[in-house]
Amino acid sequence: MVNTQKFISQAIEDIRTAAGNEKVVMALSGGVDSSVCAVLAARAIGDRLIPIYIDTGLMRKGETERIKTLFGDIHLLIVEAGDEFLGALKGVTDPEAKRKVIGERFIRCFEREARKPGATCLLQGTIYPDRIESEGGIKSHHNVGGMPLHMEFTKVIEPLRDLYKDEVREVAGALGMPKEIQHRMPFPGPGLAVRIIGEVTPEKVAVIREANWIAESELVEQYHPWQCFAALLGLGTGVKGDNRIHGWIVAIRAVNSRDGMTADPLNIPFDELTRIGSRITSEIPSVSRVVYDITAKPPATIEYE
Ligand code: XMP
Repeated sequence: MVNTQKFISQAIEDIRTAAGNEKVVMALSGGVDSSVCAVLAARAIGDRLIPIYIDTGLMRKGETERIKTLFGDIHLLIVEAGDEFLGALKGVTDPEAKRKVIGERFIRCFEREARKPGATCLLQGTIYPDRIESEGGIKSHHNVGGMPLHMEFTKVIEPLRDLYKDEVREVAGALGMPKEIQHRMPFPGPGLAVRIIGEVTPEKVAVIREANWIAESELVEQYHPWQCFAALLGLGTGVKGDNRIHGWIVAIRAVNSRDGMTADPLNIPFDELTRIGSRITSEIPSVSRVVYDITAKPPATIEYE
């Protein structure tokens, strides 16, 4: 990107022109892309922007509260839909089917809420790698906001469509957004569901949410990975106290990357890894084993499904 300030004024101008006098809805996830979009659009059209945050029940610990605090001054619609999503995911084990169920449910929720204010324009935080990966058919549903809507919008506005992630972060900085958003790791639209192998159940979500919280709190500040998280691989045998148990196997993944298209595992000192592993098994009694993922992308993807 040649000039960040120039990009910002042009994007604001373009959003204003595209929206005209209409209302604009968007799905706000709280990640850097949608947050930057929301700030640009709020500057362009003020209250005519209606950001909708859907709590899918697959979000990280504290995420919904964080959004409420961060966007306190923007008129934000919060939709609690956890039961709806977990209900729809019952019995679904295939990774692509899971993504489809979540994507479709998301769109249904979004449409339901978006109809209420009578908006005619849709704002999306699609960035360049999202377009490349979904055009290449690598994932059937890469960006939740990118699913086909059954609603008629006169316009779809994508101000970040030509930017890479690091450029979006630059824009966030130039907009004076909190460092916390600026350096926020990417978090996938389908949320914790792509970090659970097989069926998504409330129990598995609760376990991985807690493990992910620990992994992030141990790794983000200390190692500044491009992305890190915990994933739930399945059940394995373990010993707790005097008993053999069938406990959850948690994988920790921490990678460096430029844009998520390729990635390298982070070199974390072994002592640190064993300490974090012990912390996870002691704080989450149903976890019996923790492994560290040493695979690059390719051949592995960053997420597990
Ligand atoms: P993968 O797993 O494909 O991930 O190596 C590359 C980057 O994309 C994120 N990701 C997604 N983001 N919807 C999203 O919005 C998805 O379905 C999705 N799948 C992966 C992933 O977290 C990583 O940053």
